[in-house]
Amino acid sequence: MKIILSGATGKMGHMIFDTLKNSKEHQIVAGYAAELDPDLPFPIYLNLNECQEKESIDLIIDFSSPNSIDHLLDFALENKIAMVIASTGFSNEQEDRIKKAADDIPILHSKNMSLGVNVMQILVEKMAAVLSDFDIEIIEKHHRYKKDSPSGTAKMLFESANKGRQNKLHELDGRAGIYDDRDINEVGISAIRGGTIVGEHSVIFAGQDEILEIKHTANSRAIFANGAIKAAEFLIKQKPGFYTMNDVL
Ligand SMILES: NC(=O)c1ccc[n+]([C@@H]2O[C@H](COP(=O)([O-])OP(=O)(O)OC[C@H]3O[C@@H](n4cnc5c(N)ncnc54)[C@H](O)[C@@H]3O)[C@@H](O)[C@H]2O)c1
Repeated sequence: MKIILSGATGKMGHMIFDTLKNSKEHQIVAGYAAELDPDLPFPIYLNLNECQEKESIDLIIDFSSPNSIDHLLDFALENKIAMVIASTGFSNEQEDRIKKAADDIPILHSKNMSLGVNVMQILVEKMAAVLSDFDIEIIEKHHRYKKDSPSGTAKMLFESANKGRQNKLHELDGRAGIYDDRDINEVGISAIRGGTIVGEHSVIFAGQDEILEIKHTANSRAIFANGAIKAAEFLIKQKPGFYTMNDVL
């Protein structure tokens, strides 16, 4: 598979490069980023319309920023290239545009590419349904450089709990101030930012005299890179449409 790596100069871009550098099946032929990086052994484009390799590309893997999505979608649609979109922090309008583009090209979009978190989503939906009178709170922790909060994964976990409770829940980002009574349908999401924490997500089900907590810890960014490559291998065989990591599991 011949790949354009979007966000090639970033933390995840370097992790994907490290994972694929000795691969016989997959090759990164070009990168897209907001700045150049002379240490990478493939050309980096600041504007994909200048990409000389575009005729041979099978797929784009995107770990960049919501700011690049319009340009990436225009390029992918014009050249009919499949996309694995792993960036987070999109607005509702951007999410809609991604889904619409999937009418014409295969797109897999997930806010968390790791196997563990995708299994956690299935379990959280079930727990929310069975523990129907428990209060739910979500805590997420990330490194000091993470730009968006709460994390895309925390929002995914909220959506899983919400599915289990027939869409009755509503999200409260960060608690502050004075509360009289806690609404059973409210899910507080607390974000912590500091140091080099790769990523931690806990969903707490607090009932009368008992607490059940499910937690995922990412020890390395390699889990996201491996998941994105697995997603790419799946997506390359698909027709145009919108896919998630659930389709890959
Ligand atoms: N889905 C997942 O499993 C998962 C896992 C980790 C990170 N992420 C997301 O991936 C993204 C990148 O994470 P990171 O830690 O590597 O970030 P980073 O800040 O280290 O790197 C960002 C990369 O995007 C590029 N970029 C930024 N703005 C751009 C623009 N307007 N146009 C083109 N390129 C642009 C930068 O040049 C850089 O190469 C973030 O959105 C992050 O939340 C997702």
